Amino acid sequence: MRGEKMTNEQKCNIGVIGLGVMGSSLAKNMINHGFCTALYSVSDQERKRFESGKNNYRIFGSIKEFISSLERPRKVFLMITAGKPVDMVIASLLPLLDRGDIIMDGGNSYYKDTAVRCSECAKLGILYMGIGISGGEKGALYGPSIMAGGSPQAWECVRAILEAIAARHQGKACCGYIAEGGAGHYVKMVHNGIEYAVLELIAETYQYMRFVKKMGAGEIRSVFEQWNEGPLNSYLIEISATVLGKKEEDGGCLIDKILDVAEQKGTGKWTVAESVERGVYIPSIYEAQMARIFSTKKEERTYGAANLKYSSNEAPGLRTEEMEKALLLSMILAYSQGFELISKAAEEENWNIDLAGLAAVWKDGCIIRSALLGRIEQAEELSGKPLILSAAFSDIGTLEGSLRKMAAAAVLSGMPLPCIQASLQYYDYYRSDQMPVNFIQALRDYFGAHTYMRCDREGHFHTEWE
Ligand code: 6PG
Repeated sequence: MRGEKMTNEQKCNIGVIGLGVMGSSLAKNMINHGFCTALYSVSDQERKRFESGKNNYRIFGSIKEFISSLERPRKVFLMITAGKPVDMVIASLLPLLDRGDIIMDGGNSYYKDTAVRCSECAKLGILYMGIGISGGEKGALYGPSIMAGGSPQAWECVRAILEAIAARHQGKACCGYIAEGGAGHYVKMVHNGIEYAVLELIAETYQYMRFVKKMGAGEIRSVFEQWNEGPLNSYLIEISATVLGKKEEDGGCLIDKILDVAEQKGTGKWTVAESVERGVYIPSIYEAQMARIFSTKKEERTYGAANLKYSSNEAPGLRTEEMEKALLLSMILAYSQGFELISKAAEEENWNIDLAGLAAVWKDGCIIRSALLGRIEQAEELSGKPLILSAAFSDIGTLEGSLRKMAAAAVLSGMPLPCIQASLQYYDYYRSDQMPVNFIQALRDYFGAHTYMRCDREGHFHTEWE
C-alpha cells in the first residue's frame, strides 16, 4: 500500500487491473478526480513504477486483497491487452466476485468477444461492460472519450465515475452509453477505422505536397497550421503540424528519416472485415488499411520504382485552398462511411444507438475529434440518411471540384493517393442512378440462369439468350 492516508479498512470506489501506459494514466485520472482507487498488477515493475502525488489509492500484488479492498458493488476496470489475457483475468476474478459486481473492459477488445463475455458473466449475475476508450496516454490521464457498452444496470452504477474522468466539450462529458453487448467496443472499432482513413488522407495530402508540389516539411507545416484554424480544425491536423516541425540534432526534419512502413494492431482490419460482412461500402477505410499492408512491400516498391513504366502526363496543379477543400470533403466522406457502418450494425444487432449522441462523445478527448463532429451531430439529429445525403451537408457540392481535381492529379502524376481516390469513388457512387450491374445480371442469367429483375415489371425473369 502506497497511499499514507488510506487505511486498510477504508474501501476503494473502483479498482484498476493493469498498470501499463494506458492503465496507469486512467488510474491517475480517477485518483485525481478524488475516487479512492485500488490498483492491481502482476508486474512488480509496474507496481513500483506507479507514482501519483495523491494518497487516495492502494496498490496490490494480490488479486484477493485487491478485490476485498473494493466497496460493493465492486467495480473492476480491466486495462490489459485485448484477447486471451482478458479471459484469463476474468476467470481469476469470477470466484472472488459476488452477484451484482461489475467488470469493465477498457481495452480494444473485439466486440464479439465482449458480447460473449457479457452473456457469460450475466449467467453468474456479474455485470459486464465493454468500454471503448480513446485519446491515447494523455487522453486517459486528462480526459478520454468514453464509449460504454454492455450491462445498462452497470452503466447506472459507474456512470458518475466515467463521466467525471471523461473529456468535456463545452461542459458536457464526452462519455455515453452506446448500447448492450459489444456495442461500446463496436463503435470504438469503427472510430479506429475512421482514424485509419483520416490518418491516410492527411498522409496522402502531405505526400502530394512533398513529392508532387515539391514543398519542404516546413512549408507543409505552415499549411497544416493554417488549415487547423479553419473547417479542418482537428486534433490530427494539429499534431500533423507539430510532427512536421520536429527537427533532429543535425537540424534535419525527423519526418524525412522515418521509414515508410506502417504497423497496426488490428482494429482497422476488423472494421474492413465487418464492412464486407454487413455489406457496407467503406472504401476510404479499406484503402487506408490496405495502404498500411502494402507499405510493408518496401523492397518490391523500390524495385518497381526503378523498373515499372510511367508515361509522363500533364497533371493539374492544385492551390492550397483546393487541397484544403479536397481534404475536407474526403474527411467528411470517411466519417460518413463510419457512421453508415455503425447504423447498419445497430439495425442488425438491435442496438438502439443515438448517432448524434455518439458524435457528441467524439467531440473531444478522442483521436478523431474535429470541428466536423459538431456538424455531424446536427446532421444525425436531422435525418437518418447517410451523412453525405443529409441536409446538413448539402454544401459539399462546393468542395467536389477540388477533390476531383486532386484525384485526377494523382492519376496523371503517377502518385498513388488511393484514399483520396476512394473517397471520390464513394461520392460518385452516391451520384450513380445507373450502375453497370444490369449487365452483370444479364451475363449471370446467360451462363447460370440466375434470373434478373426488370425496370419496367415486378418479379424475376429468365431469358434463353442464344
Ligand atoms: C485511440 C487510438 C488507440 C490506438 C490505436 C492504434 O483511440 O486512442 O485509436 O486505440 O492508438 O489502436 O491503432 P493501430 O496501432 O492499429 O494504428
